[in-house]
Amino acid sequence: MKTAKLSDIVSLCARRGFVFPSCQIYGGLASIWDYGPLGAVLKKNIKDAWWKTYVEFRNDILAVDTSLIMNEEVFAASGHLSGFNDTLLECKQCRRRFKIEHLEEVEEGVYKCPECASLIDTKNNPVRQFNLMLKTHLGVVENSLQTAYLRPETAQGMFVNFANVLNTTHKKLPFGIAQIGKSFRNEVTTKSFIFRTREFEQMEIEFFVQPGKAPEFYEYWKQERMRWYVEEIGINEENLKFREHAKEELAHYAKACVDVEYNFSFGWKELEGIASRGDFDLSRHAEFSGKDLRYYDDRKKERFFPYVIEPSAGVDRTFLAVLNDAYCEEEVNGRKRVVLKLNKKIAPYKIAVFPLLKNRPEIVELAKKIYEDLKYTRKVVYDDTAAIGKLYRRQDEIGTPFCITVDVDSLSDGKVTVRDRDTMQQQRVSIGGLKEYFQDKF
Ligand code: GAP
Repeated sequence: MKTAKLSDIVSLCARRGFVFPSCQIYGGLASIWDYGPLGAVLKKNIKDAWWKTYVEFRNDILAVDTSLIMNEEVFAASGHLSGFNDTLLECKQCRRRFKIEHLEEVEEGVYKCPECASLIDTKNNPVRQFNLMLKTHLGVVENSLQTAYLRPETAQGMFVNFANVLNTTHKKLPFGIAQIGKSFRNEVTTKSFIFRTREFEQMEIEFFVQPGKAPEFYEYWKQERMRWYVEEIGINEENLKFREHAKEELAHYAKACVDVEYNFSFGWKELEGIASRGDFDLSRHAEFSGKDLRYYDDRKKERFFPYVIEPSAGVDRTFLAVLNDAYCEEEVNGRKRVVLKLNKKIAPYKIAVFPLLKNRPEIVELAKKIYEDLKYTRKVVYDDTAAIGKLYRRQDEIGTPFCITVDVDSLSDGKVTVRDRDTMQQQRVSIGGLKEYFQDKF
């Protein structure tokens, strides 16, 4: 399956206002990005698709929205303070630092620098452990400051609230807790645009089950999450695959883990991890907090820690995969057309309305009236800032499924031209019938 070049995506994002470097006027901040007018909407549409599927349309998953700054003890219990490290090696020639697992080992203990090709011998260059969490301090008085951390995953907010959710909702197993939110990691490798960043968003579910049912739900969530990427946001299934983790690769909490990978131009890479976490988190938080976090099964009259299946997806990576998947270059009448064939559900704008001639007030007025009539049905934009060819090109590049053009004939026949983004076919549709026409199309 064809996949777009990262440089084309980066350039489209900057050109059309999807993504900008953070603090750009001050030179940017490494591996932190801002989403512009279209990026913000596309990102929200992806998150809404997830939220609708798992929170709105299900009775067995409850939402929370927990704090980004968390107590140090949380991460002592979760194992992040001691174990959430990258193993780093610095090249003495170019001064760049690399994760050791990303380096080519040319002989035992000697690695090749991917930047300047010098050899890095671990006898002279010590391998260092580097904790990925971002630390901060709360309080105002210097000697009574409390250490806190920006969360490196949204998951811990759900585990520490397990008893609160259970006691207030009285849910029975199996049930899930879900949230979408920012996480922070002081990543060492910071290339590939928004693929790996220091501030990013996650869409996570902690799904609590009877311990004996964990393998069954692990399988269920694998299939369900793959279905979501294909059916709910329209990623081509040939560009997706599973990669099961080998035992030695598993995170400290995981009994099994599978990644959903996407076929990026820079290789097959992880979009999401689906992990079988056992009872690691609840039992550790119970131990460290001294609170009983067991579930009470009133039929069997017993208390136990439920097991957890965790589908954990990255919003920013999904965003990048969606753009990659939708990006097409076509030749039309000898000219290159860039078009984002985004799934209609997540396209930032659904319909654009243009007047063919902006020096004809009656045409402009009618186009604005059509915009006003349609704007509460779905996201519609009105644009008259360029000639028609340029307006079409703009909307193609940002993935708007339909454009409506109002012309001289519209004034007499009450019809407009509706152009389909993918086929470029044009159809005359009566103005009075537009709402019904689009109801059908969406
Ligand atoms: N709670 C489990 C957890 O956080 P993870 O595999 O470390 O697991 C889950 O992260 C997902 O979050 C990844 O599959 C990825 O999509 C996203 N993610 C993790 N680190 C990221 C980073 N530095 N930049 C962008 N996305 C990231």
